[in-house]
Amino acid sequence: MADSLVLTVRVGDQRHVLPVEGRRTQLVLSALLRQAGVTLNTRCGQRGLCDGCLVDLLAGRVIDAGTGAALEATAEPRSIRACQYHLPPAGQVEIHVPARSLLAHEPQVVTAFRINVSRAHDPLWQGIELPVSELAPGKPAAEAVCEAVARQRDYDLPVRAAGDIALPPPPEQEALRLALEQAGDHWLVRPLNTAPAAPFGIAVDVGTTTVVAVLVDLTGGEIVNTASALNAQVRLGDNVLTRIQACITHPRMIGRLQHAVVARTLQPLVEQLLRESRVAAEQIASLVIAGNTTMLHLLAGVDPSAMGVVPFTPRFLEHLVLRLGDLPLRGPSRTSRTAEASENPAAAADAAAVPFAARGQPNPAVHLLPGAAAYVGADVIAGVFASGMVYQSEPSLLVDVGTNGEIVLKHGEQFLGCATAAGPAFEGSGLSCGMRAGRGAISHIHLEPDSTAPDIEVIGNVPPVGVCGTAYVDFVAQARRAGILRLNGRFAPDADTHPRVRAGKHGREFTVADGADGKPIYVSELDVARLLQAKAAIAAGIVCLLNRVGLTPADLNMLYLAGGFGFHMNIDNVICCGLLPGFRPEQISLVGNTALAGAYLALLDSGVLAEMKQIAARLETIELNLDPAFESCYIDQLAVTA
Ligand code: FES
Repeated sequence: MADSLVLTVRVGDQRHVLPVEGRRTQLVLSALLRQAGVTLNTRCGQRGLCDGCLVDLLAGRVIDAGTGAALEATAEPRSIRACQYHLPPAGQVEIHVPARSLLAHEPQVVTAFRINVSRAHDPLWQGIELPVSELAPGKPAAEAVCEAVARQRDYDLPVRAAGDIALPPPPEQEALRLALEQAGDHWLVRPLNTAPAAPFGIAVDVGTTTVVAVLVDLTGGEIVNTASALNAQVRLGDNVLTRIQACITHPRMIGRLQHAVVARTLQPLVEQLLRESRVAAEQIASLVIAGNTTMLHLLAGVDPSAMGVVPFTPRFLEHLVLRLGDLPLRGPSRTSRTAEASENPAAAADAAAVPFAARGQPNPAVHLLPGAAAYVGADVIAGVFASGMVYQSEPSLLVDVGTNGEIVLKHGEQFLGCATAAGPAFEGSGLSCGMRAGRGAISHIHLEPDSTAPDIEVIGNVPPVGVCGTAYVDFVAQARRAGILRLNGRFAPDADTHPRVRAGKHGREFTVADGADGKPIYVSELDVARLLQAKAAIAAGIVCLLNRVGLTPADLNMLYLAGGFGFHMNIDNVICCGLLPGFRPEQISLVGNTALAGAYLALLDSGVLAEMKQIAARLETIELNLDPAFESCYIDQLAVTA
């Protein structure tokens, strides 16, 4: 009789028995399971680099696909990567597939970012049902519930109860309704006493200049609304160094900066998301925040002073869990109305009494994502993950263009990161007619060499109000090609004959369009100088990082260009500007706001958080301001390329 193998697969409360014969036993388990309709989250491409495909070996043995060595089941479930093992030719094997290893979503593109990795659906907050029959008899209820949840969910972290859990006398209730919440080094379980409305989460990128948030339906993972705002800290300093310096000089600035980002930026953004989506405050179950290390310190009210002096020591880098109600939210806001309140004056009064923190529910957790160093923060780690760079085997680069330009090189198993102070020009800040990419912003400029009037694209197809980063890049590149700009970014002498060029208070100005208010929207020589300084800081960072490991741009397989400007940047114009020196268009992938993408992924898949912690631990940082070559490299990069 021919050899035969029987594979038993447990998924949730289902059990599948699969006979596997002949050559199919040579397929790795993840491929075999996919054929059987159980698709795992193989986000690293089945290369043994992630934890997306972990399953538990319960009985029998499996064969290591690389070495051919057998791995036997033990008394305790044994966690294995399904893409690294196949079955033996005969016998009985039993595995368990935890919910967190099932594929929920392929890579996806949304308005603000491109996600290049798949994910499971295992949110940091979830409502679960636990059959009373699964509770071990004779134990205190809380202990029995924790044990049963731990068995059911199979997490690496322990499960603890938030206070007492009362069991109803049977047979009144067949299943307990519970809230399960990631709480840092453990999962927290508590009873859900009332039928919960649909839970929502919020993912946030707290940038130095701009803060962006998305409202996410935790049941299905869809983004239901997006909002962005200027970080109110900008009034107190336009970059992280000035804000840190302010804290060193006046310790009370820590509280003022925290108030600015929490009460005057994050809170109105969340209120706006809720109001526009008609979601009630108590439906918010969890928030995940990415940001640079200084922003996360200030959001948590932690003194960042030690990051202002060598050796730039942060007070924390690890994943931190705060409670929304413990943050310094401001009192009732005139704009703070939940959907319920907007229809009910009594509820409106209630809503006004407590701001958006959940009413009648435990405070939602606020997860601050893990960072690697003072100037390579959680925003970068989130980007390394969401861009998919973490799983690239060829050399690749992530360049995150923001007020701090952050750059990470993946070379073999090594991650090298650095940051460079670019300033807020690419976010449209500090420029004559600059604005964030939002309704009314000119997002693209098309300037043909022989044409006197540029074509423009405006976000929202409304009369233009200002110019955002993508259009500034277009302008610099195209004005250079049209002969209006010289290589050094100054207007050419004969540009004065151009009908759109006139003298202004900051050098000459090129009028791009007439604004909605009838005033000209223009780009000045000073604006161009600031843009070139910003791009030179990033370009010099790239050159120094590559020099450090002896690579050239031609050696790189992929450059992921990230930033709040989204992924509608004209790549030819980016290269002409000189932002990415030596790279070819086909090497560049626009990925948008990867910090926000990473926060969104972490909110929905607890395994992502664990992998981000591993990336943060592996990333080595380089201090560019201590690199003697950086200064001259920066000066070299101040020119336009073409
Ligand atoms: S898919 Fe198996 S380790 Fe990544």
